[in-house]
Amino acid sequence: MTKSVQLEDKTLELLQPIELDVNSGESLAIVGSSGSGKTTLLSILAGLDLPSSGEVYLKSHALHQLNEEQRSQVRANHVGFIFQQFLLVNSLTALENVMLPAELANIDDAEARGKELLEQVGLSDRLAHYPSQLSGGEQQRVAIARAFITKPDILFADEPTGNLDKKTGLNVTDLLFQLNKKLGTTLVLVTHDPKLAARCQRQVEMDGGKLIQISEDSELVEQDPSAISQVG
Ligand SMILES: Nc1ncnc2c1ncn2[C@@H]1O[C@H](COP(=O)(O)OP(=O)(O)O)[C@@H](O)[C@H]1O
Ligand SMILES: [Mg+2]
Repeated sequence: MTKSVQLEDKTLELLQPIELDVNSGESLAIVGSSGSGKTTLLSILAGLDLPSSGEVYLKSHALHQLNEEQRSQVRANHVGFIFQQFLLVNSLTALENVMLPAELANIDDAEARGKELLEQVGLSDRLAHYPSQLSGGEQQRVAIARAFITKPDILFADEPTGNLDKKTGLNVTDLLFQLNKKLGTTLVLVTHDPKLAARCQRQVEMDGGKLIQISEDSELVEQDPSAISQVG
């Protein structure tokens, strides 16, 4: 898989040819300096963006062959995403923000689930607060609760602790791994934090649009049957 963009008279190669399998149930950290292509890679893995060439699979779905609407359906059914800037809807309360993906996925007990998740992230007394009435850490926890409400098979988090102070960052991380364990969700994290990366079972590094494997046990295996997500 590659990604390039056309800028006026030249083509910018954002991602050099990349092959990566993410195994079902694993936690994978993507590290690398700013501008190395981490967010671009994550967006393609999650079906938010398309590669310029090559293939992307999420479970059995060939994302590169789907249109935007079809990809949004796959995302609704399988994917949770925690964005770097939270991206909460300002006109909705904390609870309504958390319930939104469940409603889009036609899940019946969205409200009960939303309340339960907000309780798990320690925000049961903030259900009716709007994002502007919440601290950065609280907004981040709402974003996490929202990402888990559809019980996604795979959760992508782009620097989930990047905007948080150390203590809140630790709480949020604990939460991610707790919820991950409890629901068996595959976790793919982009992070600058070496401690957070070390908590993941496997680490890969992006450098100038290239993917470098770090852990010794990582292999670039094609068509791994246990893979939940693959690019190539
Ligand atoms: N749509 C785009 N058009 C042009 N350049 C882009 C676009 N998206 C990302 N880039 C560039 O690609 C590089 C990788 O970006 P990004 O994936 O956001 O890196 P990271 O998340 O590792 O900081 C950066 O140099 C960025 O400026
Ligand atoms: Mg980024």
